[in-house]
Amino acid sequence: MSAQKTVYVGMSADLIHPGHLNILEHAATLGNVTVGLLTDAAIASYKRLPHLTFDQRRAVVASLKTVHDVVPQETLDYVENLRKYKPDFVVHGDDWKSGVQRKTRQRVIDALAEWGGELVEPAYTEGISSTQLHEALKQIGTTPNVRLSRLRRLLDSKDIVRIMQAHDGLTGLLVESSTAARDGVNVEFDGMWSSSLTDSTARGKPDIEAVDLSTRLQTVNEIFEVTTKPMIYDADTGGKPEHFAFTVRSLERTGVSAVIIEDKEGLKRNSLFGTEVEQTQSSIEDFSLRLKAGKAAQITDDFMVIARIESLILGKGVEDALARAEAYLAAGADGIMIHSREKTPDEVFEFAAGYAKFNTTAPLVAVPSSYHTVTEAELAERGFNIVIYANHMLRAAYPQMALTAKTILEHGRTTEAEPFLASISEALAIIPENRA
Ligand code: SPV
Ligand code: MG
Repeated sequence: MSAQKTVYVGMSADLIHPGHLNILEHAATLGNVTVGLLTDAAIASYKRLPHLTFDQRRAVVASLKTVHDVVPQETLDYVENLRKYKPDFVVHGDDWKSGVQRKTRQRVIDALAEWGGELVEPAYTEGISSTQLHEALKQIGTTPNVRLSRLRRLLDSKDIVRIMQAHDGLTGLLVESSTAARDGVNVEFDGMWSSSLTDSTARGKPDIEAVDLSTRLQTVNEIFEVTTKPMIYDADTGGKPEHFAFTVRSLERTGVSAVIIEDKEGLKRNSLFGTEVEQTQSSIEDFSLRLKAGKAAQITDDFMVIARIESLILGKGVEDALARAEAYLAAGADGIMIHSREKTPDEVFEFAAGYAKFNTTAPLVAVPSSYHTVTEAELAERGFNIVIYANHMLRAAYPQMALTAKTILEHGRTTEAEPFLASISEALAIIPENRA
């Protein structure tokens, strides 16, 4: 035991388990242990946001008897911190020799070589993993407050927050659990969009504010019963300011993180109709009253009221949209959604360039339904903070259901439709409880 030696251990330390304690105990036998605690942003760069905030995780780690000091590690890559602290040892479980962390490991070895430091890799503790604990926690669920505040945490830690539409428990589960590998990193959706278009369409109704708040909240509750991710709610025009105040209270109480209202009035039609139908944009003054009523009604600090600008939808141009953005932010909006039904992102990019000059931290939201070739990376580069895939779960299901109905009618049996269908066992396995 040499107390003069220094040991660096990088970790997320979200759900501390015996595997972590084994690593830290091993590290403490080599010298004074400094934990490089990954920030939320560092963790979000390669996997889901942790359950606990950075400050909560720091408090837990700092109280461990094996830990001498805790410092933030701002990136998944260790090199910056290693060059700063020049530890004699880095300790990490041997499980990172393969998989996504392989390159990170090699860079640690190369950096340590600069001053003769050494990488020590105790055997990975079998039988327990953060992934298993995370799954178990998901089964337990979440609380309205934790869910609500998560959107702001995501905005603080990610380049762009990725939101997918959900209109029932099943689509909510898909948004909750879908993952894919993109450029060697696991990606998933960060949260859900409760869309007026898909909530109405799923009920066979037009998107004209005819599905009332109570009905829509029932859907939100069904989704929340089986998921933990945050939700942004599409409240159409918001209605009268006095009514919008009640909507905000109900959403906030349920655990919704943000509401978006659009600057239209009278009979609201879906924006993707554009100028093909009659739609009236609100005056700046009227819409500002709605925003103010919403902001005054909220109880928590974390809930967000986001203003949606319809100028581009209604052919009023980017200048009008920017003037409105400035006014809506002044009225208290926490963010701006700029909508467009063009085939290319040119006009929303032009808007984003103007928005950047406001020097505001209020998030900017894009809904790339018609300009669908744009990538998340391109949107982030132009200053967008949230991307909403607004209707894709519903649009995916509809053609498959229509084709199946037609095929059964044509053949007088279901055999020909079987290729389009999930097997019964697949359909059962969609529900987590059926897999247990
Ligand atoms: C929705 O999803 O209901 C929206 C977005 O409001 S859009 O349909 O593009 O208007
Ligand atoms: Mg809508």
